[in-house]
Amino acid sequence: MRSKSFSASLILFQKSTWKWLSAYVLAVFSWCSVLYAQSGVVNPFPPGSSPDRIVLNVTSDPSTSIAVNWRTCDTVKTGYIEILPAVSDPRELDNPLRKQAASKPFTFQTLNATYHSVVVTGLLPKTLYMYRVGKGNDWSEWFHTRTAGVNGDKLSFIYLGDAQVGLKTLWPRVIRAAYAKMPEANLILYAGDIVNRGNSDNEWGELFYGGSFIHSTIPGMHSPGNHEYARTGDTLSAFWQPQFTLPDNGPDGLKETCYYTDVQGMRFISINSYRVEESDDDLQKQKRWVDSLLRNNPNQWTAVVFHHPFYSIRPTRDNARMRNTFKPLFDKYNVDIVLQGHDHAYARGRKKIQGARANTASGTVYVLSVSGPKMSSKFEGSWFDVGTDYTQMYQLITVEGTILRYKAYKASGELFDAFDLVKQKGKPNTLIEKDTLQTRDVISK
Ligand SMILES: [Fe+2]
Repeated sequence: MRSKSFSASLILFQKSTWKWLSAYVLAVFSWCSVLYAQSGVVNPFPPGSSPDRIVLNVTSDPSTSIAVNWRTCDTVKTGYIEILPAVSDPRELDNPLRKQAASKPFTFQTLNATYHSVVVTGLLPKTLYMYRVGKGNDWSEWFHTRTAGVNGDKLSFIYLGDAQVGLKTLWPRVIRAAYAKMPEANLILYAGDIVNRGNSDNEWGELFYGGSFIHSTIPGMHSPGNHEYARTGDTLSAFWQPQFTLPDNGPDGLKETCYYTDVQGMRFISINSYRVEESDDDLQKQKRWVDSLLRNNPNQWTAVVFHHPFYSIRPTRDNARMRNTFKPLFDKYNVDIVLQGHDHAYARGRKKIQGARANTASGTVYVLSVSGPKMSSKFEGSWFDVGTDYTQMYQLITVEGTILRYKAYKASGELFDAFDLVKQKGKPNTLIEKDTLQTRDVISK
């Protein structure tokens, strides 16, 4: 009896001690977490020995090459890509092409990492490849990616306006929905303000979390916005060049923010609109460069992507330097479509925009869009044909021969805006409005 009572007391004592001990440990842990969080020490996306942030970029010849970047912790000094045409039999993985990456140490604020970059050339056009990156025991999974085809093949691409905020909350569903509707896309265009603070490692981490394997599957064409620059100066995000490998064919001093690529009969040009707005020198450089690209353009189609729109939906905004510099060139060389961001709404216009000659409408379609949840509180303007505010959007575009088909979807998947452009010899493209319930509603307002 005494023994039973003693045991019971002991159990009670142990339970109570354990309870207090647990509470104490929990309290200390919580307090430490608060302290760490306040001091900014906690890194939700720390680099490890396994590759992360694996991103494909467009190259200057996407039909025969791919560019891949990834990140590891700083103790990993080298890395490789292994690549082969996709096989279904896992026994056939024996002899992939292996290429060593250029691996560079990266130190920024409290972060130490290694960024790895590799361009694989000599690939076959229109071919599904499988690849992985890493080394030793730390390889990524195998990803699939398809090289671009040749002139005349059907082209598909996704265009996203500002992601910027909500990268781990409300933005992921948008890029995932776009991918689900167009998994065959040849590339994804990002029209700047991809993150909110260009030097925030956490935000880039959220972007890669949000897009996950899509970044590693479809080459990205990233164009910078004002938020990829430090607010107090002209310094591009410290992460931009280490984490992307974009075509090296832009003007000096602006490389990998200004660049172009030709994909299956369409020339894609990225302009650095922030530097146009900020610097006379960079404006002139880009003007000469764009003029030359448009003058010597063998492609049937041309799309230009940048951040600051020629025409705004916000009464306090007017990017006159961009418009005055490039609109005469776009008119002269018949640019087909211009894809922009910055204003945190959706608007698409052509009919009410003045063309190159008096009393003619523009032959170029201008679009601004937004993929993330940051929205403009103002929405007005007389230049657009279709538009809406407070709507996360994604755009899917295909080009086949003389027809470009454009579709803009709400995040929830409803088709909001659609039109076709049809090439006409010696004349501006014919624009055919496609009937969508949403378009009718907006046009009739
Ligand atoms: Fe912006």
